[in-house]
Amino acid sequence: MDSFRPDLLRGQRAVVTGGATGIGNATASAFAAHGAEVVLLSRNADRLRAAAKAIGPQASFHAADVRDAARMAEVATQIGKTDVLVNCAAGNFPSPFDALSENGWKSVVDIVLNGTANACRAFRPHLTPSASVVNVVAGYAWTGAPGVAHSGAAKAGVLNLTKTLAVEWAPVRVNAVSPGPIDQTEGVKRLADDLGLRPAMEKAVPLRRLGLPAEVAQACLFLASPAASYVTGACLVVDGGMDAKGPFGDLLLGM
Ligand code: NAP
Ligand code: COA
Repeated sequence: MDSFRPDLLRGQRAVVTGGATGIGNATASAFAAHGAEVVLLSRNADRLRAAAKAIGPQASFHAADVRDAARMAEVATQIGKTDVLVNCAAGNFPSPFDALSENGWKSVVDIVLNGTANACRAFRPHLTPSASVVNVVAGYAWTGAPGVAHSGAAKAGVLNLTKTLAVEWAPVRVNAVSPGPIDQTEGVKRLADDLGLRPAMEKAVPLRRLGLPAEVAQACLFLASPAASYVTGACLVVDGGMDAKGPFGDLLLGM
């Protein structure tokens, strides 16, 4: 999948939190394939090392927990000038609100919402005036959904933060990408495969299939690039039509 010219991000340094796995890894790989120097940031050093090696010499990594604001500031200072920041790190597990412990709620909100804010705060002094920030959210940020009280509330916060920072940080652009169910990811493993929901989920998507990490990466690449030079404060939905379908879509389609 290669829809953009190969030098689209040449000379740019892109930091991707959660960049060693899943959607973040596909995004970092796409950025590197389009000329960027990429820096992967997450907790597990072994996964980071392997992912950076697979991408090639233009990739490096820092092990850091986005919940640790001091560590994030330290890493951002080591990295220096940053042209693109993708906040993709997240934690999630399906649980009804009533079964969520205080710590279960806190761990997800800390990673998703406070972690995104920590990364934004840490990298802010190093962002170039033409920099682009992309925050990865999810459709349940604005709908809510069973089992995602913690993650949904946190993603709603990230979506809102995206809009405020787009205004406060201009000319730095700040946007969001909202993936639908994306195959080959931990997110779909936890929310579809572990619960045996994959066939029903495929059927529920108007495009009748799960998305691919590379398809979300293309959206991040667009928002990170000069092709999106007048796009800020937006959320690009990459969900096979799930959001457009609405709550009664399956009942009314084909009536
Ligand atoms: P994933 O591979 O598990 O990605 C999460 C990444 O975040 C991992 O690389 C993980 O690495 C990192 N991470 C977790 N906690 C962290 C912390 N405290 N500090 C630093 N890094 C941390 O899952 P994914 O499914 O690709 O999800 C990527 C993004 O897409 C997430 O924001 C998710 O909410 C969003 N999303 C996914 C889907 C989907 O269908 N997959 C749908 C909608 C939205 P370590 O564990 O090594 O730290
Ligand atoms: N159901 C209910 N509660 C759960 C749970 C589950 N499946 N998984 C974790 N928890 C609870 C734990 O019991 C704990 O609460 P407690 O102290 O009251 O028992 C709390 O969540 C924190 O768990 P812990 O494993 O200590 O947190 P962590 O900070 O090491 O990890 C998670 C954070 C829980 C989000 C972990 O799943 C993670 O690291 N995820 C990253 C990858 C990911 O989620 N990918 C999908 C992205 S969409």
